[in-house]
Amino acid sequence: MSMLMAEELRFFLPPALVALFFYVYLTRWRRKRLNLPPGGAGWPFVGDTFAYLKPHPATTVGRFMEQHIARFGKIYRSSLFGEPTIVSADAGLNRFILQNEGKLFECSYPSSIGGILGKWSMLVLVGDMHREMRMISLNFMSNLRLRSHLLPEVERHTLLVLRSWRDSSTFSAQEEAKKFTFNLMAKNIMSMNPREPETEKLRLEYITFMKGVVSAPLNFPGTAYWRALKSRSNILRVIEQKMEERIQEMTSETEERAEDLLGWALKQSNLSKEQILDLLLSLLFAGHETSSMALALAIFFLEGCPKAVRQLRIEHGEIARKRKQRGDAGLNWEDYRRMEFTQCVINETLRLGNVVRFVHRKVLKDVEYKGYNIPCGWKILPVFAAVHLDPSIYDDPHEFNPWRWQQSNNSTAAAAAAANSFMPYGGGPRLCAGSELAKLEMAVFLHHLVLSYRWELAEADQAFACPFVEFRRGLPIRVHALHDTCSH
Ligand code: HEM
Ligand SMILES: *[C@@H]1O[C@H](CO)[C@@H](O)[C@H](O)[C@H]1NC(C)=O
Ligand SMILES: *[C@@H]1O[C@H](CO)[C@@H](O)[C@H](O)[C@H]1NC(C)=O
Ligand SMILES: *[C@@H]1O[C@H](CO)[C@@H](O)[C@H](O)[C@H]1NC(C)=O
Ligand SMILES: *[C@@H]1O[C@H](CO)[C@@H](O)[C@H](O)[C@H]1NC(C)=O
Repeated sequence: MSMLMAEELRFFLPPALVALFFYVYLTRWRRKRLNLPPGGAGWPFVGDTFAYLKPHPATTVGRFMEQHIARFGKIYRSSLFGEPTIVSADAGLNRFILQNEGKLFECSYPSSIGGILGKWSMLVLVGDMHREMRMISLNFMSNLRLRSHLLPEVERHTLLVLRSWRDSSTFSAQEEAKKFTFNLMAKNIMSMNPREPETEKLRLEYITFMKGVVSAPLNFPGTAYWRALKSRSNILRVIEQKMEERIQEMTSETEERAEDLLGWALKQSNLSKEQILDLLLSLLFAGHETSSMALALAIFFLEGCPKAVRQLRIEHGEIARKRKQRGDAGLNWEDYRRMEFTQCVINETLRLGNVVRFVHRKVLKDVEYKGYNIPCGWKILPVFAAVHLDPSIYDDPHEFNPWRWQQSNNSTAAAAAAANSFMPYGGGPRLCAGSELAKLEMAVFLHHLVLSYRWELAEADQAFACPFVEFRRGLPIRVHALHDTCSH
C-alpha cells in the first residue's frame, strides 16, 4: 500500500511540482505584468462612492477627484457603486471608450436607473434594440424636422415663458427653464399642451420621479426610490391613456393628426406598447433635465459676464432687424445659422457647467491603454467634466470665456486640441440624439431673452453637482423689461 503510494508519488510528484512552479511563476509574472492604473479601493463594500458623489460646485471636479488626479494621475482605479472601477480624466481614453462602444466597452448604468427609466429605456439598452430605438429618436429630431417643425415650436414655447414674466419681478430661473423644456418635450412627444392641468400635473409628478433616479435603489415605503417608482407608474398611466386615445383616433379617422413622436412610433415602428412607453419616458427624461440645466447655467454665467451679454444683444439685434425687414413673424433657419457668438456662449456654458459630468461603461474585453491594463468586467467612467476643466487643455479653465471658441481668435494646435477634447454630448454610437435640438433651444431662448430683458441674481446662488447639476436656491433672478427692442 505504502509502496504503491511512494511509487505513485514518485511518478506524480515531479509533474505536480512543475505545474505548481509554473502556476506560481505565471500568476506572479501575470500580476507583475498586469499593470493596473494606480489607486486605492477605499472603504470595504461602499468603496469611494460616497466621497465621489459628494456634492461639489458644478464648475469644479470636486475635492475628491482633484486629490485622486494629483496623487494617481488622470487614469486611476477605485471602487465605485460596489464594483472595481477605472476612472478616466484623460481626453484620449474617454474618446477611445466612446468610440469602441459595443466592441471593447458597453453602456452600463446602475440598476436604479434601469428600474426607474424602464428596461426598454434607450439609456440602458445595448445592441440591436438600442440601435432601433436610436433610429426612431434620430428620425424624430432630424435636420428636416428641426428646420420645419421644431424651430417654430421652440420659439413659441420660449415666448410663452418669457411673456409670462412681469417687469421687476423675482422668480426661479431654473424653474422657468424646466417649464420651458418640459412643455416643449411634452408637446412634441405626445401633443400635450402647456398650461393644461394634465400637463402641469404630469410635470409635478415628474419632479418626484427625477429625485428617485439619483437615489439608492431601496424599494420600501418612504424611500425616494419607492416614491419614484410610484411616480413612474403614474406617469406611464398618463402616457398610456394618450396612447389609447391615439389608437382610437388613428382607426376612426384617415386624416393625419399631430406629428408627434407617439404617433410616429405607433405608425412607423414595430415596438410593443411597453417599449413605446419606456421610449417616450426616457426621451422626456433625456431631453428635459439636461437642456433646462444648460439654459439655467447660461443665464447664470452671462449674469456674471456683461461683456458677453452686450455682444449677444448686438448679434441678436441684427438678426431681429433682418427678420423685421423680411416681415416675418418668427425666426427662420438662416437667422439661426447667424447666431455665431451664441454658439460660443453655448459651448462655453457646457464646458464650464458640465451638465452631464460622466457616463457609465463596463469593459467587455481586456484592453491596454497607455501601458495600463484595463481588465474585462470592470466598470469604467469617462469623466468629461475633468477634461473640460483641465488647465493643460483649456487656459484658465475656471473662467467663463466664450471668446475662446471663436474660430477667428485662435486656430492653433492648442485650440484644435481643445475642440477635440470637448465632449458635452458624449460620442461614438451613443452620441446624444438631441444635441442639435438642445443647441436650438438654447439659442432661440437666449435670442428673445437678451432682446427682452436685463436680469440680475436676486440672491447669491451656485450650481452643485450632486451628481445631477442643480442650483441650490433654484437660481433666483430679477428681470427688467427692455422697451427699446424690436423683438416683439
Ligand atoms: C445640453 C443638453 C444636453 C446634454 C449636455 C446631453 C448630453 C448627453 C450625453 C452625454 C449623452 C450620452 C450618454 C451616454 O453615452 O451614456 C446623451 C444621450 C442622449 N441624449 Fe442628450 N443631452 C442633452 C440634451 C438632449 C435633448 C434635448 C434630447 C432630446 C430628446 C436628448 C436626448 C438624448 C438621447 C435620446 C440620448 C441617448 C442616445 C443613445 O443612447 O443612443 N439629449 N445626452
Ligand atoms: C417589423 O417586423 C417585421 C416582421 O417581424 C419586419 O419584416 C419589418 O422589417 C419590421 N419593421 C421595422 C420598421 O422594424
Ligand atoms: C479673443 O479672446 C479674448 C479672450 O480670450 C477676447 O478678449 C478677445 O476679444 C477675442 N478676440 C476676438 C477678435 O474676438
Ligand atoms: C462647439 O462645440 C462643437 C462640438 O460639440 C463643435 O463642433 C463646434 O464647432 C463648437 N462651436 C464653436 C463656435 O466653436
Ligand atoms: C492663441 O494661441 C497662441 C499660441 O498657442 C497663444 O499664445 C495665445 O494665448 C492664444 N490666444 C488666446 C486668446 O487663446
